[in-house]
Amino acid sequence: MKFNYVNPTQILFGQNQIVGISGQIAPDSKVLVIYGGGSIKRNGVYDQVTSALENHNWVEFSGVEPNPTRETLDKAVELVRSENVDYILAVGGGSVIDGSKYVAASALYDGEGWDIPSGKHQVTQALPIGAILTLPATGSESNMGSVVTNATTQEKLAFLSPFVQPKFAVMDPDVMKTLPERQLVNGVVDAWVHVCEQYITTTNNAYVQDGYAEALLRSLLKLGQDFENRDNDEWRANLMWSANQALNGLIGVGVAQDWATHMIGHELTAAFGVDHARSLAIVQPSLMRNQMATKRAKLEQMGVNVFGLAKGDDLAERTVDAIEAFYQSLEVATTLTDHGLTTEQAVDKIVGQIESHGMVALGEHQAITLTESRQILEAAIQ
Ligand code: NZQ
Ligand code: ZN
Repeated sequence: MKFNYVNPTQILFGQNQIVGISGQIAPDSKVLVIYGGGSIKRNGVYDQVTSALENHNWVEFSGVEPNPTRETLDKAVELVRSENVDYILAVGGGSVIDGSKYVAASALYDGEGWDIPSGKHQVTQALPIGAILTLPATGSESNMGSVVTNATTQEKLAFLSPFVQPKFAVMDPDVMKTLPERQLVNGVVDAWVHVCEQYITTTNNAYVQDGYAEALLRSLLKLGQDFENRDNDEWRANLMWSANQALNGLIGVGVAQDWATHMIGHELTAAFGVDHARSLAIVQPSLMRNQMATKRAKLEQMGVNVFGLAKGDDLAERTVDAIEAFYQSLEVATTLTDHGLTTEQAVDKIVGQIESHGMVALGEHQAITLTESRQILEAAIQ
């Protein structure tokens, strides 16, 4: 496959790097600092940001929720306009960074902001964004993706645009010290599935992409297996870098990509509020088993190169079992039980959402039609 690749985000990695933002943002900028529910005020990140911006003119917007909603973000868009903001500084996890991307693009668009995730408007310009990452998981700090929720309609939709990719990203592993265990687990699982979505597809014979994907999977597996001993610089730095590299575009160039687990997972989050990473752990093992016919060769390769499994006729099946066992070892559920409906109603609801979003041919072969999605969900929901 042909490809055209650039990753223009400057990375400032390591301890005490937040101070460096002052050199990244032009001194005459009017900055909007966007953050979430307040974790940055409790762990010292907010203080580091305010001190780094002491010579800048800035205002702030807080309250971006996990799975950020357009209802909240549209208020930030109003603030951008009323304060003549020309630079966005996102300080948080994937939700804050994704939300900032929506704000940066919506602020320069005359129509409804929701036109962007819903696909009605293709982004042609956006305010520049800088990111200070506080939760390694999504890779949003150096990619062009954003996922936004419409709370009113219970829709969670993604958009991609090079215009919203952050100009710089600060990744100081020390900020992870205050992350709850649940969010650290989410980070491992989300990054893991990001690699899988770009790797467990067809046999591409792309030695570099396959080799790097396997290195990332081995790294994430080691971090998961060593989860008990996570309170150290090495563990934190390795997760932060692995999660970033998992979804900064590099391993996906020139190869087939899947993303069906994510698309179905987003619907579980929109309908039942399941954490993003946990929605993936529910969908992926079932999806792998459903799509075994086309994914067998790659699963066999992963079984040997990532899990060190012995060869054999059932190697691909054992690889899926190993993936599932990995999630369960982190106490991440691999089926959805907490939905307050009967299994049939829950499956119907999600299939209905998938259909209404036109996702009737998912996966690298567009082979996951509504029939397969239903089969996948019937095995994933109890
Ligand atoms: O809001 P605050 O108070 O900051 O608390 C957050 C939030 O409650 C907390 N947190 C973050 N950093 C912390 C911290 N708590 C203590 N110490 C810290 N250092 O963690 C909670 C979850 O944060 P959130 O940003 O929602 O998590 P995550 O980074 O997992 O982001 C998930 C969102 O990203 C989207 C997901 O769909 C979901 O909406 N994704 C974005 C992608 C992309 N842009 O490329 C790809 C992904 O596949 C994913 O879909
Ligand atoms: Zn993800």
